[in-house]
Amino acid sequence: MLRVDSPRNEYYYTPNPTPYSLAIMAQAKKALAKKQRTHSESRTRANTYLNYIGGLWVPSQSGEWSENRNPADTRDLIGRFPVSTTEDVDAAVAAARDAFDAWRLTPAPRRAELMFRVGEILIRDKQEYTADMTREMGKVLKEAGGDVQEAIDCTYYAAGEGRRLHGFTTPAEMPNKFAMCVRQPMGLCGLITPWNFPMAIPSWKLMPALVCGNTVVMKPAEDTPLSTYNLVKACEEAGIPPGVVNLVMGHGSVVGARLSDHPAVRLISFTGSTETGQRVASACAERNAICSLEMGGKNAIMVMEDADIDNAVEGAIWGAFGTSGQRCTASSRLIVHKKVYKKFNQQLVERAKALRVGNGANSKIDVGPVINQDAVEKIMSYIDIGRNEDGATLSCGGRNLTKGDFAHGYFIEPTVFTDVTPDMRIAQEEIFGPVTSVIPAKSLDEAIEIANGVQYGLSAAIYTQDVNRAFHAMNDIYTGIFYVNASTIGAEVHLPFGGTKATGNGHREAGTQVLDIFSEWKSVYVDYSGKLQRAQIDNAKAIG
Ligand code: UN1
Repeated sequence: MLRVDSPRNEYYYTPNPTPYSLAIMAQAKKALAKKQRTHSESRTRANTYLNYIGGLWVPSQSGEWSENRNPADTRDLIGRFPVSTTEDVDAAVAAARDAFDAWRLTPAPRRAELMFRVGEILIRDKQEYTADMTREMGKVLKEAGGDVQEAIDCTYYAAGEGRRLHGFTTPAEMPNKFAMCVRQPMGLCGLITPWNFPMAIPSWKLMPALVCGNTVVMKPAEDTPLSTYNLVKACEEAGIPPGVVNLVMGHGSVVGARLSDHPAVRLISFTGSTETGQRVASACAERNAICSLEMGGKNAIMVMEDADIDNAVEGAIWGAFGTSGQRCTASSRLIVHKKVYKKFNQQLVERAKALRVGNGANSKIDVGPVINQDAVEKIMSYIDIGRNEDGATLSCGGRNLTKGDFAHGYFIEPTVFTDVTPDMRIAQEEIFGPVTSVIPAKSLDEAIEIANGVQYGLSAAIYTQDVNRAFHAMNDIYTGIFYVNASTIGAEVHLPFGGTKATGNGHREAGTQVLDIFSEWKSVYVDYSGKLQRAQIDNAKAIG
């Protein structure tokens, strides 16, 4: 074992490097030295950002860059980010593999100390990260601050696990024998993350992976690499050893695909579209790798006739139009009892019309842009389907705003469809934009049936004053998350997050449940009898 310099080298060791990793490191160092003339560190004045591989900030071997622009004003160039190749992924995997033994052998409470430091850095720089996120992703500052806060919460929560990571003991069936179960890290994990929660979701995956003793290669969404870069920078500053966290930026079809089929990557944790998730899952299945998926949603708020309508409308507005509706938990269906349908719609439309659309950096704005031109086209095509193919009533919104202040961004008006029936495409398919559909229902049972009648099962909510109905709905709704008198969004990091049906593949992130993704169980038997004791055979004697 070779002792290396690190901020906490008293407990950080690396195993002997392999010739392959030495070659990769030499290559990376050479590339870095060459770039050092132009890059004073990982981020230059010209805002050119680098991959992070084996503790070094290196350009992609492609020498290509992609531009990250502000979706509220595309004249604003945020920076140039590497368009990485499969070789870059291979280098990152090699670095993560080399770092694995030292990291897994570092006691979990020590790993957690470094993570607590990451949390402190995130708190210190929260404002800067928040502004960066609004600029690259578009969500309004308050929400971007919430995203960073979620990363902080998740970091502290996962770090706390460093002193728990509980396994269990259980009686053995033989005398003088001890039985227990311990958690072991999975090994090398690939983390593929989306653009809508560009710091929170990477932290949901990274922090539990680290506390469990895994090393990782992260691949952020092409549209929002800066927020993940900021998270990785915090890890570097906190002294997480080289190779434990690696960052490779670029296209999903190259970087994500290579990570998913790389033989050394034991687990892929993916959040994104159902279509891409299924491709990731197939690649993992081919080589018997483990894969954890968190994908789409078509979440419903049910509003009963006894509900506090003002509160329900506030919840619907927040759930449908927060993050411009670009949440997998967005309230994209509002199932409303016929007795309050008219009143609810009236208030909803009034509130939706009053929302101020614009650049999220302006604190007076309620709804920021959508992420990019493809999103505009997809959302506008659904608005067209709602009006023409489905024949729903467009009660407000529906326009792509392109004039004046909106001329250089991707803006869509908050849009409400009413008189929607459960079979319509706008009531079935995930739109991922500021569009919601109001569906009338004549009873709680019918509302539940409609709510369950989609392919997804992430989140659902009910507004009612009746505790019996609330519990009845909680029991019969087939989703991973359920809210009473609250919107479909707003999950907290210490409860499991994930969904049923096409939303996922049965795993849950966050909570202690996430540890079951990033660790696997080892059952340990210790026989201290000093003789051969045969399970299932010798113990039978005890009962004759
Ligand atoms: C998402 O909906 O894409 O539950 C993630 C929430 C957030 C996370 C949402 N904590 O609203």
